[in-house]
Amino acid sequence: MKNTVATLLAMKQQGEKIAMLTCYDYSTARLVDAAGINAILVGDSLGMTMQGYTTTLPVTMEEMIIYGRSVVRGAQDAFVVMDMPFMSYQASLPQAVENAGRLIKETGAGAVKLEGGAVVTPQIRAIVAAGIPVCAHIGMTPQSVNAFGGFKVQGKGEDQARAVLEDALAVEDAGAFMVVLECVPPKLSALISKKLAIPTVGIGAGAGCDGQVLVCQDMLGMDDDFVPKFVKRYAALGDAMTRAFATYAAEVKAGEFPEDAHAYTKSDCDDNYLTQLDDDY
Ligand code: KIV
Repeated sequence: MKNTVATLLAMKQQGEKIAMLTCYDYSTARLVDAAGINAILVGDSLGMTMQGYTTTLPVTMEEMIIYGRSVVRGAQDAFVVMDMPFMSYQASLPQAVENAGRLIKETGAGAVKLEGGAVVTPQIRAIVAAGIPVCAHIGMTPQSVNAFGGFKVQGKGEDQARAVLEDALAVEDAGAFMVVLECVPPKLSALISKKLAIPTVGIGAGAGCDGQVLVCQDMLGMDDDFVPKFVKRYAALGDAMTRAFATYAAEVKAGEFPEDAHAYTKSDCDDNYLTQLDDDY
């Protein structure tokens, strides 16, 4: 079944959880889609997972579009959401609408996501008015890492909790169809999920959200250097891939790969003319 903003909303209304993953390329998108994941986020986390930066800040519109297009080609049924990169929507409303439009038009994705609560509601309203669904993202918003002074849990204590709840209500009122809650205390996420009609999707926000999102590389166990507390590893692909690469290298060096089974032996050259070629050159 094709996932849409309408089916995601219906899932919340029917109490069915939404499963979302980040994804940045065609072949992984095909696998994610085949697994029945409801929504794919082409997150600007690709700056870290695919490009090796330490934050999401350097990612550009052009880069998002290249990765996004590849994902959309691989996603049949999953609903694809494109992250708006840092400084692609903050400067002005025309800038926000123009860049949201580019992300949809040039990738074929179904929606955009932008970070921030009440402060970005003018952008959300303007993009929604242009006919583009917007997923909001509140709590710990990685594009504000310098303002937060690091990647920290948001919503601790009454004042912060009130601020996160008010952000959630504000983005819903502005027309967002869904909201990501990142690194928010679980009881607060559950309260927000109860207060909102639109689905909440949590990352590090506990089980009370209407859905969950994880970074694909994190849940596949592809990076041992940094594993956030909220990540559950569903595979150890990093180890498996390194082992496969090492075995390949050893077999190439030992002359064990390729074997006849991996060569076009049935179409092989005739020894007579090979001898002739050998003589001629
Ligand atoms: O960019 C991203 O991957 C995200 C998720 C962490 C929600 O925004």
